[in-house]
Amino acid sequence: MRREEIIPSAARLTNSLRDLGYEFSNAVADLIDNSVTAGAGKVGITFHFDGPESWIRIVDDGSGMTGASVSEAMRLGTAQDYGEGDLGKFGLGLKTASLSQCRAPAKS
Ligand SMILES: Nc1ncnc2c1ncn2[C@@H]1O[C@H](COP(=O)(O)OP(=O)(O)OP(=O)(O)O)[C@@H](O)[C@H]1O
Ligand SMILES: [Mg+2]
Repeated sequence: MRREEIIPSAARLTNSLRDLGYEFSNAVADLIDNSVTAGAGKVGITFHFDGPESWIRIVDDGSGMTGASVSEAMRLGTAQDYGEGDLGKFGLGLKTASLSQCRAPAKS
């Protein structure tokens, strides 16, 4: 049997994920789901309204991530062993939450 590897177009897929119709409230809820799954007892949300320079920051006191796990977490469809009661399922939420709302990386 002939096999062929067909790699998805990263650029087009990224744009498609941006247009899934993901509302801002769903994006925030997905990030808070992650905080809950990480065992957070507190989740802090800061909104800064300033037109195109607006931003939101979500922080939690959960398990956190190491440098290597942050890189893996940013992979679309990241591998994960889910425990009972975990709110994650697809390995996508962290990325789609950001992609659906933003067109440019945050300025440092
Ligand atoms: N606030 C957080 N604290 C600790 N780890 C986190 C946090 N947010 C994300 N992660 C890690 O990043 C991984 C990827 O998150 P992401 O939301 O993309 O996928 P998921 O939660 O596994 O599945 P789903 O697509 O259903 O949300 C998580 O599985 C988790 O390991
Ligand atoms: Mg998630």
